[in-house]
Amino acid sequence: MTGESRFPLADRPRLWGTAVSHYQVEGGDPCDWSAWEDAGRTRGGACGRAAGSWDRYEEDAALAAETGSNAFRFSISWSRIEPQHGRFDDTALERYRRLVDRLIELDIEPIVTLFHYTHPLWFHERAPWTTSASVEAFARFAGHVTDALGDRVRVWMPLNEPLVFLLAGWFDGQIPPGIADGKVLPRVFDHLMAAHCAAAAAIRERSAHAAIGIAHNMMSFAPERRGSFLDRFVTRMAHRCYNRGLIEAFATGRWDFLLPPTTRLRGRRDELTRSLDFFGVNFYSRLHLRCPGRERLIGEFHYRDESGRGLTDNGWEIVPDELEDALVEASHTRLPLIVSENGIADASDRLRAAFLEDHAASLRRAADRGVPVHGYLYWSLLDNFEWLDGFGPKFGLYEVDRQTLERRPRPSVDVFRRLGEAFLGEVSAATGTTSQ
Ligand code: FCB
Repeated sequence: MTGESRFPLADRPRLWGTAVSHYQVEGGDPCDWSAWEDAGRTRGGACGRAAGSWDRYEEDAALAAETGSNAFRFSISWSRIEPQHGRFDDTALERYRRLVDRLIELDIEPIVTLFHYTHPLWFHERAPWTTSASVEAFARFAGHVTDALGDRVRVWMPLNEPLVFLLAGWFDGQIPPGIADGKVLPRVFDHLMAAHCAAAAAIRERSAHAAIGIAHNMMSFAPERRGSFLDRFVTRMAHRCYNRGLIEAFATGRWDFLLPPTTRLRGRRDELTRSLDFFGVNFYSRLHLRCPGRERLIGEFHYRDESGRGLTDNGWEIVPDELEDALVEASHTRLPLIVSENGIADASDRLRAAFLEDHAASLRRAADRGVPVHGYLYWSLLDNFEWLDGFGPKFGLYEVDRQTLERRPRPSVDVFRRLGEAFLGEVSAATGTTSQ
């Protein structure tokens, strides 16, 4: 199960930190998501100033340091970098450069994501994911960003949650580009995989020391009625498609899975197997599935508080033990693993400390079983704009005042810092090295 256990950063074998994404914290970024909000397509209103991080990045870097982190994951806004097709804005890149410099001064490893759901306004017309122009455009964007940051940034994640984007953007049509068309899914998925490979190649060409990863959203699934053969069947199917499909793609260079009711995604790109240096797991919760369903995605699904830990503010079940299983599953990639997102919406901070403790324990159990776990990134440093749910869910270790944008630590920051010290100080069972 262990596979390649050596993490690509020799001087930093373990990462502990937080994650944000550009659109959710920066504010004032005209792109396909802001157009989506203007058209009234979100439940939770408009992003507007978000957390104001475009201007407050120095303060945010200082907060990241205050949490005891040695890593910070953030994403780059493609719409700021390439506001018009083929026209790049270097002043936007300079701002990211300043953030990177500041993090490095604070001894924090920047982890840069290139695609976290949003696109420039021109993208869906000029280079849609249904065409190979998308692959070329994304690789060019990746190359441009690496030219600007590649001498300092070592850790790159071209794509965040490609399957979530595929399902929500092209299957359910809930997020931009808002298409619900089973017929184009195989092509879009293939282009996302190709774009990942092309971006990885563009980064490596310019930066030989780059470590490349991906963030894969994994869920735990359980049958709603344990005694029901059909519920157990859809549960197995959901796990097979949603969790394992992408893992297999990276492990073997091939994919073959069904999206219900009848869309088969099947393809092959041999270069996938060589494209990664580490694999990121985004893990949040568990869905209880019932068949037959009225929902289109994976039958009918519910969250419920089976473990008695209480539901999060956005109604998600808290299932720390399942993180261990997700990591075991992801270890089939035979790559070093990091938890690239894990977090809880908990405005009152009532549940967060236990959430952090329990997930850290699960991480430790996975490591004790020989799973090469090299990092944990909490979602999120700050309260932010949670996509369709707007500013409702509060994931932040730091609370953000919606009027003044002032940041205030929640008490659980102390727990996060203490767990980080232990994680970074431990002798890793997987690597046999002591990290700092
Ligand atoms: C993940 C997304 C991230 C955030 C969290 C709560 O799926 O990657 O942007 O919204 O969920």
